[in-house]
Amino acid sequence: MSTAALSDFDPDATLISLLTDRAAIADPYPRLRSMREHAPIHQTALGKTWVVSRYDEARAVLRDPRCGNPTPEMFEEGRAGLDGSRRRPRARESLSILQLNPPDHGRIRGLVARAFTPRRVEQLRPEIEAIADRLLDAMGGTGDLVDGLAFPLPANVISALVGVPERDRQFLRPLIGDLTVGIEPTASDDEIARADAAGATMREYLADLIAARRADPGDDLLSVLIHANDDGDQLTENEILVNTLLIYAAGFETTTHLIGNMFRAFVANPAQLDRVRADRSLVPGAVEEVLRYDPPVQLDGRYVHETIAIGGHTLAQGDSVITLIGAVNRDPAHFEQPDDFDIGRTNTQVLSFGSGIHFCLGAALARLEGQVVLGKLLDRHETWEIVGEPTWRPRITLRGVESMQVALS
Ligand code: HEM
Repeated sequence: MSTAALSDFDPDATLISLLTDRAAIADPYPRLRSMREHAPIHQTALGKTWVVSRYDEARAVLRDPRCGNPTPEMFEEGRAGLDGSRRRPRARESLSILQLNPPDHGRIRGLVARAFTPRRVEQLRPEIEAIADRLLDAMGGTGDLVDGLAFPLPANVISALVGVPERDRQFLRPLIGDLTVGIEPTASDDEIARADAAGATMREYLADLIAARRADPGDDLLSVLIHANDDGDQLTENEILVNTLLIYAAGFETTTHLIGNMFRAFVANPAQLDRVRADRSLVPGAVEEVLRYDPPVQLDGRYVHETIAIGGHTLAQGDSVITLIGAVNRDPAHFEQPDDFDIGRTNTQVLSFGSGIHFCLGAALARLEGQVVLGKLLDRHETWEIVGEPTWRPRITLRGVESMQVALS
């Protein structure tokens, strides 16, 4: 789709195609650009839902203390979610930090953040390198990059971080798959029911693991969370459980897509691959550029707790706002030649990890995983190719390929 003239442009139809059309999911950027150019702050036909695709306004909404997660009243009135009627009210105790509002959010995040200090993340480097070597050895240069590397690498890293033993990791994989589909705005009733069931099974599993760590503490995240203490304030059993589940789920597919997107971006831009091969100091910047150019999380958002004005529009109390991360990361007001994949950019202030109080807690870990994988692929393989067409996961919130045959030599 080319950028349509303003008079022809139908933002609601564009949004629907972004959410549902497989071709749009494979390349959403022309549509995202049209949204940003023609309807940067758009009130959808659903009335109470707004869609923001310009950088400044999206960042402002994500950071605004008058915006947040749905309140219990919003759930009760069926206003939580694009299709609120299907999202059941949840007890405060069953909400993770991703779903909580201040002051609960800050209290719990402060304690959970102790498991993500830069030192703890950096300590994982040798383990990530060993996992990457093992997986790349097993792949031997051909096969499905998602199955062989992009999925098992973050899955094993997050399992090692949380303290999930190797023997249980396969059993958890399909459960996480079911769980993450539940956050998509297009999830069906059936998918939401499966996500709830997967969440319940995982909670049972993690409860047993927590009991085991209490009896026999280790050096893993669960043990840190059990012992995290702030002036006598400790996490309750349930808080440990729901937030471990969040970290486990959030650390999986997001990073899988970062790795898949990185590979695709370099194959499509061989001059950039030559550039990073010639100068390894560009590796961290290259990972930032992948996050900007093709972000694994495409939709973020907030609910308006108190009426706000942005970009000449009034968003009323109770409205919801979706931010289109793939559009804001290519806003020409912030990024020169935004559609170019350029690993030497100096402006890396992207919204791929969100912004404000919910800024991704795992950002340093995801970056480290991306950098290790890029380094290992460069060390081992001179040529990178994609064989045939990758298969896309038919989802936009967490967007990426679910299989991609590659040839590395
Ligand atoms: C490339 C990989 C990743 C991307 C693109 C990503 C993206 C995001 C985004 C956009 C948010 C903000 C959501 C909001 O504004 O409401 C977020 C929050 C979060 N992420 Fe990530 N994430 C990634 C990897 C990880 C990893 C590896 C972990 C854990 C090990 C993690 C844990 C979290 C947690 C706990 C939050 C919630 C923070 C809060 O609500 O205070 N993420 N992530």
